[in-house]
Amino acid sequence: NEKYQIAIDGPASAGKSTVAKIVAKDLQYVYCDTGAMYRAVTLKAMENGIDVNDEIKIGKMLDDTKITFKPGDPVQKVFLDGTEVTEKIRQTNVTNLVSTVAAQKRVREVLTDWQRQLASDGGIVMDGRDIGSSVLPKAEVKIFLIASVDERAERRYKENLAKGMNVSLDQLKKEIEIRDQKDSTRKISPLTKAADAVEVDTTSMTIDDVVNKILEIVDSVS
Ligand code: C5P
Repeated sequence: NEKYQIAIDGPASAGKSTVAKIVAKDLQYVYCDTGAMYRAVTLKAMENGIDVNDEIKIGKMLDDTKITFKPGDPVQKVFLDGTEVTEKIRQTNVTNLVSTVAAQKRVREVLTDWQRQLASDGGIVMDGRDIGSSVLPKAEVKIFLIASVDERAERRYKENLAKGMNVSLDQLKKEIEIRDQKDSTRKISPLTKAADAVEVDTTSMTIDDVVNKILEIVDSVS
């Protein structure tokens, strides 16, 4: 029973983490949310009063930064230097600055290195933007999840409402488009579909549909 690396990439709010987590549970694999790592680095810079454009200071900050995960329901818990930051890293201010930090060379080097270590034994589902194209180029399974921007904004809107946040649908759509634009056009490992990735358009699919589709793809390589 071989333990694969499963890479799930795609634009913001395409449902990657929701399905990645379920797929990992079904297969008894480890789940790694790489977006949470970039978010935690961004949060730390902000909390330390470091300008998010200051690559040198952020690079140095990484020398004593530790990000860890603990399984949890309904979401995996994220710890930054031992303190839980699961909710804080989803705040709007972090979301809107993370792409600036994620474009930096040193940040990508350090986080990519951690991600490769986590995945080295296989048995992992990793979601992000550059997993299939750059972090784990040899992953046995590569999925590229997409959905229309309207559908993605709608999903984010409903999630927000459930958390008691009220941001207009239009505003969310704008934020998603700006972030995708930044993530797709940066110089180092931009958001892109790997040549050997299977594209799944989730616009009119349920979560179960998407999970089953991915499990079928996993079965087809074994
Ligand atoms: O997946 P999530 O929306 O939480 O990711 C937050 C941000 O982290 C992305 O918009 C992107 O800027 C960055 N990211 C990245 N590479 C990854 C995962 C996330 O650059 N593999």
